[in-house]
Amino acid sequence: MTEKVGTIISTEDSPTSEKISFVLEKPVNKEQFVEYDAGGGKAIARVSRVRKSNIFYHNPESVSESAKNNVKLQEQFPTEEREQLIGEGRILGIYTSKLIRRPSFPPSPGTEIYLAEKNRLADFLGLDMEKGLNLGEVQFQDLDARINMTKLFQKHFAILAQSGAGKSYLASVMIEEILDRDRDNGNIGLVSIDPHGEYAGFGRDHDYGHRVEVFRGNDIKIGLSNITPGKMAHYFSDVSTAQKREIIKVISEMRKKMRNGGGAYSLKDMERMIEEADMDKKTKRIWLDRINRMKSMNLFGLYDQPSIDRVEQGKMVVLDLSDVIDYKKKQIITAYFGDRLFKARMNGEIPPFLFLVEEAHNFAPENRSSDVALARSTITRIAREGRKFHASLGLISQRPVGLSTTALSQCNTHMILRVTNPNDLERIKQSSEGVTSDVIRSISGLRVGEGILVGEAVDYPTFISIRQRKSEEFETGKNLEEAALEYREKVEKEKDEIDAFM
Ligand SMILES: Nc1ncnc2c1ncn2[C@@H]1O[C@H](COP(=O)(O)OP(=O)(O)O)[C@@H](O)[C@H]1O
Ligand SMILES: [Mg+2]
Repeated sequence: MTEKVGTIISTEDSPTSEKISFVLEKPVNKEQFVEYDAGGGKAIARVSRVRKSNIFYHNPESVSESAKNNVKLQEQFPTEEREQLIGEGRILGIYTSKLIRRPSFPPSPGTEIYLAEKNRLADFLGLDMEKGLNLGEVQFQDLDARINMTKLFQKHFAILAQSGAGKSYLASVMIEEILDRDRDNGNIGLVSIDPHGEYAGFGRDHDYGHRVEVFRGNDIKIGLSNITPGKMAHYFSDVSTAQKREIIKVISEMRKKMRNGGGAYSLKDMERMIEEADMDKKTKRIWLDRINRMKSMNLFGLYDQPSIDRVEQGKMVVLDLSDVIDYKKKQIITAYFGDRLFKARMNGEIPPFLFLVEEAHNFAPENRSSDVALARSTITRIAREGRKFHASLGLISQRPVGLSTTALSQCNTHMILRVTNPNDLERIKQSSEGVTSDVIRSISGLRVGEGILVGEAVDYPTFISIRQRKSEEFETGKNLEEAALEYREKVEKEKDEIDAFM
């Protein structure tokens, strides 16, 4: 039996089969879970509101009359003693030894209200207390928010919140849980697309470093021999049918040579091949031009780097794009490695994995043409077909409005942290299962480190206080003052150098 906190009262519109009001003996928090005896089981309710009431102040006339006459009610009457704390709750379900029923009958006024019992609540919410990933605590419950890995990842998830709300921090907590996970519980591999170098810190971390490999922009390479004519045409979207026909010839010729022991080929080999090929001058020039553009990207080499076998259970590969300025290069990297991962997973070459994409609205945008959004088709494909192959997607975004509807709608779990922008809130309301107007109001009031989990991963929307991370947090962004000072120092140093030279 847990602590008794109050007693159900009858009000004008409660109790019903959905709603209760109860006078509180002990304060409870909004969003806290409470329970009461309900025919053969325990009904679990979520506190939706807490308010105060006082019989001395019920009648507007008498209150305004005393104010007019300068009479302070609290001096005349024992008003304080009559102040009542009233809780209101939404009944979520009735828990009867493993079976959860929908509430169909109101409780009687006078029924005693208790804090929800821990184990029952864990079961009711669908937590996995044995093997789940520990993201923090269920808010106000002293209950670890241990989320079942399959339920969280298999049908993909999204972390949505405004900038600074703690998205990357939460993602880091999830990463720690995977890297620390007991192998016997079944584990996955991690690959993250990291546009700001936020996860690169894991590679330098004292405890996690040896399980994390970071590849920076110039270290990332795509083996040219792995690029099909179809991909080529996709990356250079202005390729005409005639031009495609010509490059198919070139590529199949090179592949034939490779199969005959020629080894992997480079851009230089391809350039030579095009020069020698029998194609019309104009097409030739266009392709040579494209090869030059590919050269200047400093991305295409003989072999993939990282190679696909770097994806291992309980380890993470970080593609750190923070030093990549070329927008197209970032798109191609994400598209190529996303495709490669998915294909390798379908062939059973690599373990089940999670592909974590930061700034997902840039890689799978909603309203940009596909010749700019080169990675979108990759991401939506994993979103649509990944689950069958245990290829999971984690999308992180501060602009849910700008994120592909196809991709977002396939993310069956949403972790929502603080959001105040009305358009984003509207988008979340439409795309997240179980997000009621009530929940939306709470989302704009969340503080850093707090969030709500909705969808597949939990049986009811659950407010969570994210735990502290164990890994070291590396500063990535400088503030404006620091950047300004750094610039001044640089200019002064250059000036000194010139002065010394003169
Ligand atoms: N759960 C948390 N506990 C403590 N500090 C946090 C937590 N979540 C975020 N922070 C802090 O808030 C700041 C912003 O977090 P960050 O994850 O970078 O936000 P976002 O990725 O949403 O822009 C960071 O300085 C981080 O340390
Ligand atoms: Mg971030």
